[in-house]
Formats: sequence, C-alpha cells, structure tokens
Amino acid sequence: MSTGTFEKAASTSPFDFRGKVAVVTGATQGIGAAIAEELARGGATVVIGARREPVGSALAERLTEETNGKAEFRRLDVADSASISEAAEAVFGAHGRVDVLVNNAAIAENSPALELDNAAWDRTIATNLTGSFLCAREFGRRMVEGDGSGGAVVNVSSIRGFQVARPEKNVAYDAAKGGMNQMTRTLAAEWAPLGVRVNAVAPGYIDTPALQDVARVDPGAIKEWLSQIPQGRLIQPAEVARAVAFLASDHASAITGQVLLADGGYALW
Ligand SMILES: NC(=O)c1ccc[n+]([C@@H]2O[C@H](COP(=O)([O-])OP(=O)(O)OC[C@H]3O[C@@H](n4cnc5c(N)ncnc54)[C@H](O)[C@@H]3O)[C@@H](O)[C@H]2O)c1
Repeated sequence: MSTGTFEKAASTSPFDFRGKVAVVTGATQGIGAAIAEELARGGATVVIGARREPVGSALAERLTEETNGKAEFRRLDVADSASISEAAEAVFGAHGRVDVLVNNAAIAENSPALELDNAAWDRTIATNLTGSFLCAREFGRRMVEGDGSGGAVVNVSSIRGFQVARPEKNVAYDAAKGGMNQMTRTLAAEWAPLGVRVNAVAPGYIDTPALQDVARVDPGAIKEWLSQIPQGRLIQPAEVARAVAFLASDHASAITGQVLLADGGYALW
C-alpha cells in the first residue's frame, strides 16, 4: 500500500452505525453517493437529502437492498432555507432522532475572479457555505433535542479551503470552503458541551463526474493535477467516504473541530 492504492472494500464497513440516522446532502451522485453507501454499509438509516427525486429514490432502493442499512430519499435544496427546515422536521418526525449530518452538497463554477459576476458569487456562497450552516443549525438542533446521545456533523470541504488550486479558478468556491473550515472549528467549540462534534474532510482531486466535467473543458487539467499529487493518482470517492464515516463514528469520539485532508498528499507540495 506504499503508493496509496485503493481497493474498494467488500460489502461491510469498519464502522458501526446501527440504530443511527444519518443525513447526507446532495447525495445523488459522486462523493455524496459514496458517503451514503459507506454509512448504509455500517448499518445506518441514511437520508439522501437532495433535489433529484428519481435518482435519489433509485439510489435509496439500491442501498436498502445491498447494504446492512436502509436508505430513503427526502427532498432538500440547501439553497432554500424553507426546504432545509422542512426536511429537518420531517426526518426528526419520522425517526425521532438525527445522529449524523454530512454537508456534502456544493456547486463549482470555475471562472477567473475578474469575470465572476455577482450572481455566480451569490449562488456559490448560498449553496456551499450558507446552505451548510443552515443544515448544521437545523439538523444540529435535532441532535441536541434527541435522546441525549448527541451527534456528529461532517462538512465536506476541499483542499481549496486551504490553498489556491491550479489551474482552475473560482474565488467564490475557495472562499466558501475556507469559510466552511472556520465554521467547522467555531461550531465545534460551541456545540462540544452539547454533545455534538463538528469536523470536516477536505478532499483533494477526486475521480468524480464533476471533476471529469472540468477535465472535458480543460483537457490538460488532469495531467497537471496528477503532477501535483505525491501519490500520483486521483482519489476514489469511496476513500473520502471512509474518512467521513470515521469522523462521524464513535471511533472519533474525542475528535472535534478538525479538518482532515484526503488528498493523496496534494497539500504537502
Ligand atoms: N470532486 C472533487 O474532486 C472534489 C474535491 C474537493 C472537494 N469536493 C467536494 O465534495 C463534495 C461533493 O462533490 P462531487 O465532486 O461529488 O460533486 P457533484 O457535483 O457530483 O456533487 C454535488 C452534489 O450536490 C448537489 N447539489 C448542488 N446544489 C444543491 C442544492 N442546492 N441542494 C441540494 N443538493 C445540491 C448536486 O446535485 C450534486 O448531487 C462537494 O462539497 C465538493 O465541493 C469535491
């Protein structure tokens, strides 16, 4: 394993989420779907909180069939605060608890700063930063109101919350992820006495449809990214999911306010 190669694990997870309810935002594809799968393999009841009903329901059905856990779709638009409140109410109403929230939903519209218009800035901050805060507040409230066992929030951040990525440019995305990292620390301190841990995973370059889209526009990008990653490979969504599941699990019971890089060493150079 010295080169950091990764083989997808079999049908089980090293983490035990039996009896827990976990909400993953934007979980219909990419990293979010991998996170939903990892948590369901650990036995969780996973709520796929997303906008696309047919895709979300199909994924929920598959996870319920193929894993130790269960999954269900719940409509959730993180850019719409009423939709977040309704989803939190509905999940708590149906299950009487919320144990884990994964703030995964995000958008990325790359553009040089001088060409980034107001609407694109607002859309990115509203989805990636404000949406994550509103979900943390609404679902975090239910964690505190639950049976006293507390909960865990895991924010899906990015290496771009720490450092400037190359060659793509999107100051709004980078600012939102940087804000998410500090939000993680501030909420962690505020909610530690309430039994809620708040952490983040900051992925590097992950082999997802979103990344392949960027590469289609700029075919040289993947080559450049690989040259900057000490492990010399793109990271698989399932590897990010493992890191998220660890932070969400009781194995991380003393860990709060941390941003864990899952980047194949990108941030080292
Ligand atoms: N792919 C990478 O290389 C990479 C690297 C670093 C960080 N990340 C982060 O990982 C997370 C997942 O990214 P991904 O690569 O799987 O991208 P993706 O675009 O495939 O997934 C993002 C998901 O969020 C959903 N979404 C967007 N706006 C939403 C809204 N308003 N309400 C609900 N859902 C919404 C999308 O529909 C999509 O399903 C994001 O937070 C992203 O910033 C990805």
